[in-house]
Parts: sequence; C-alpha cells; structure tokens
Amino acid sequence: MNPEEAAKQTAKIWSTGDYADLSERLRPAAQALADACAVGAGQEVLDVAAGDGNFAVACAAEGCAVVASDLAPGMVERGRVRTEAEGYDVEWVEANAQELPFDDDRFECVGSVFGAMIAPEPELVARELFRVVRPGNTVGMTAWSPGGRAPEMFDVGRRYAPGGPPEHTPDRWGDEDNVRRWFDGLANSIEFERRSVVWAGDSPEQFVAMMEQSAPPQAAAKASMPPETYAQMRAEMVEVARELFRVVRPGNTVGMTAWKPGSRAVEMFDIARRYAPGGPPEHTPDRWGDEDNVRGWFDGLANSIEFEHRSVVWTGDSPEQFVAVMEQSAPPQAAAKAAMPADTYAQMRAEMVELARGWAGGDGPFEVDAEYLQFVARRRG
Ligand SMILES: C[S@@+](CC[C@H](N)C(=O)[O-])C[C@H]1O[C@@H](n2cnc3c(N)ncnc32)[C@H](O)[C@@H]1O
Repeated sequence: MNPEEAAKQTAKIWSTGDYADLSERLRPAAQALADACAVGAGQEVLDVAAGDGNFAVACAAEGCAVVASDLAPGMVERGRVRTEAEGYDVEWVEANAQELPFDDDRFECVGSVFGAMIAPEPELVARELFRVVRPGNTVGMTAWSPGGRAPEMFDVGRRYAPGGPPEHTPDRWGDEDNVRRWFDGLANSIEFERRSVVWAGDSPEQFVAMMEQSAPPQAAAKASMPPETYAQMRAEMVEVARELFRVVRPGNTVGMTAWKPGSRAVEMFDIARRYAPGGPPEHTPDRWGDEDNVRGWFDGLANSIEFEHRSVVWTGDSPEQFVAVMEQSAPPQAAAKAAMPADTYAQMRAEMVELARGWAGGDGPFEVDAEYLQFVARRRG
C-alpha cells in the first residue's frame, strides 16, 4: 500500500467507533503532559493527532490559543463537538502528523498524547513537530512503553491485521534511545518521565467490550473482519485482559499522596504539632513524602513504585482569611481550637498567620504551591 492509501486507511479506521470512553481513560496523561510542558495563558499551542482533543482541552483550560489537528475526519468532528460543548474556542484542522499544514516556527508548544506515535515514519513526525514549534520552545509527547500492558493488548490486534503486522509499532516511541535518535539535531534537551494510566473494568470481558466500542481500530476490525476471525481475536484479547486484570485491578494498585518534608503544608502543620498536648508526635505524615522511606516500607510488598513530585495550589484572600478557613475546615485545627486554652490557641494562630504572611509577602492575597509526593506501587505476586 502506498503512503497516501495507508493514510486514508488509517483515517478511516480512526473515524470508527465511539472514542469517548477511551479518551476519558487517556485524559489524565494529557493533563500531565500539559503540566510538564508548562503551557500558559496566551501561548499558541498545537495538539497533534488530537483525537477528540484531550491535550487541546488541557491547554485551552490554561488560557492558551489552541489549534487541534488529526488525520481522521471523524475525530476532528468529534473534537469540534466536544470542545464546543466544553466551552473552549479551539480551531480544528484535518492533518497528517507527517505533513503538518502550518507555517514554520508558529507554535509555542506542540504536544501529542498517544497520537503522533502512530504515524509510520517517526523521522518525518519528529521533523514536522520541531518545524512548527518556535526555536527554544517545547515539543511534548506520550507513547506506550514497550512491553507495557497497552502494547500487549494492541499486539493481538496487530497480529490479525490484514496484510500482516505493520512494520512500525507506536511503542518504538516508548524507548528513550529511539526518541534521542529521532530528535537528534532538533532538540536541545529531552526530559523523560515513566508514567502510567489506570485501566480498570468490571471484568476482562467487559473491558474488551469497552475497547470494541470505544477503541477505533478494534471497532473497525469488528466491522471489517470475517466474524469467526474476529471472534478468535477477541477471545485472545479477553485472555490478555484476564492476565492484565490480575495486576491492575483496583486493590492491586496501591496509590498514595503525602506532603513532602519542608513543603508549605508541613511548615503550617508543624506549628500545630509544636503546640500538641504532650509535645510533638514522633511520627509525622511527611515521612511518607520521602522516597527512601517509601522504598523501605514497601520493600518486599511492591514490585515497582512510581514516584511523582506534584503540588496543589493554596490560595487565600489574605493570611488571616487563610488561617480562618483552616480553622473551620481542617479538623485537627478545629479540634485544637475547641480543646486548647484560649490564649495558647491565640498564640498558635498568630504564628500561623505570620507564616502565611511570609508566603504572601504581606497582608494581601496569595497563591503558593504546597508540594507533595504521589506514588503508585504494584503489589507483588
Ligand atoms: C489513541 S488516539 C489519541 C488521541 C488523543 N491524542 C487523546 O489523547 O485521546 C490516536 C489518534 O491519532 C490519530 N492519528 C493516527 N495516525 C495519525 C497521523 N499519521 N497523523 C495524525 N493523526 C493520526 C488518530 O486519528 C487518533 O485520533
């Protein structure tokens, strides 16, 4: 098949099915990529192989001017309907990631979430992504890791592809060496992060039924294959899902968040701890915010642990208002107020207001990051 016909075929496949459910499962990855690219208000951003626009929406929510592009007309239509329904002004364009119809140096960020990885010529994709981003600016991508659970499932489909398995598989982009090679001469620096999205279902059977409806290549396979061949492929997928569920079923993944030692949250809570009746407690929750501690405590229990350093934003109209909110809605502080002698509580409260004043640089409104550690561990066995 020549490249033009192959692209037409891909566009047709990806216009099949109802992508909404799969899109929802990939959405957190799009948000994390937008965060990692540090997109910001006023920037012009391009989402490549956008599907129905997960990355586009994450960037539009930050106030970026967003163009979203995809090879499949059906996806472009879906995306247009979705972004309109969600109230975002996104420009949608039909485009092949290997041949983007945009001027050189146009965008301040170009991102692709499990999309550009699919195009058969990675070198062309890399060249195009970097051609349309302004020098010094950012290209962000996500791709499945080779050997991961998604490729395991998609490999079944590939084995049944008419004409045999394709030469290029998207998970080649999940190999750092390949990315370094394809970006060679185009990028100044590359930062890699190993992440995962959670795949859950009520059962292996239900999971495959979801894919059948919502993963366009599978919906297209169902529509085009002889029923008995499809039934055989589907049965193999249910088998893979059975294995997959043994590990990723909720309950087998342990996920936690904990404040990082020294973070703003801990600074604030430490004041309360100093005033605790009986003196500061021996254990403090931010011990969980230290990767070495987690590794030690999970030793022998988890197969793998993925750490991510994140933050939540703490805002206040004023230091005084912030502490008043804590007083009302943080149970330990509400309890301290109820239990302590009034003058001791007033002293502790004043220290807290003083700390928040330090963050705000005065008595005005403020917005600060409270850093925490997120970790996801896979249970052993
Ligand atoms: C798994 S979906 C990911 C979509 C989206 N980025 C998301 O986060 O949900 C892959 C998308 O890549 C698109 N695609 C595949 N090959 C492409 C190509 N050569 N150029 C542009 N888009 C392509 C498909 O149409 C599909 O919408």
